[in-house]
Order: sequence, then structure tokens, then C-alpha cells
Amino acid sequence: MENSSVVSGDYIVVKALENGVTISGLTRGKDTKFHHSEKLDKGEIMVAQFTEHTAAMKIRGRAVVLTKFGSLEAGE
Ligand code: TRP
Repeated sequence: MENSSVVSGDYIVVKALENGVTISGLTRGKDTKFHHSEKLDKGEIMVAQFTEHTAAMKIRGRAVVLTKFGSLEAGE
């Protein structure tokens, strides 16, 4: 994928509502594997981008997630 399309990949914002929220990045391409994971504590925010390497993200724990589709709450 050329660089211009990578830098224009969508962003999401994740705000942890409890300690130990995890964000895992899943690889783009034929295989879908975890390539990175980040742990957030309550109140921490991560701004993440879909790229050439990251096709999907998995969020575990209570968190507010902002995407271009709107705002949703992960967790219970
Ligand atoms: N390796 C998959 C792909 O590039 C990753 C992927 C894309 C994916 N979209 C997804 C995995 C949605 C789970 C759900 O197609």
C-alpha cells in the first residue's frame, strides 16, 4: 500500500473506564494475527490509526470508543 493511503487511514479514540483495558492490533492480509497490544488504565486515552499493518483492533474491558461510525461503549 502506498504511503499516502497509510497516513489517511482512519483513527479511533479509546478512553478507558477501568484499569487494564487492552487494545490489540490485528494484522492486515491473509493471516489475522495479533501484532501489538496496549494496556490502558482508567482515564487514559489512546488515539490509534488503521494502517498498512493494522486492519482491525480488538478492545477488551470497559471503554468509550469513538469512531467515524459514532461513539460506543465496550465492556459490560
Ligand atoms: N487479516 C484480515 C484482513 O486483512 C484482518 C481483518 C480485516 C479483520 N477486517 C477484519 C479481522 C474484521 C477481523 C474482523 O482482511
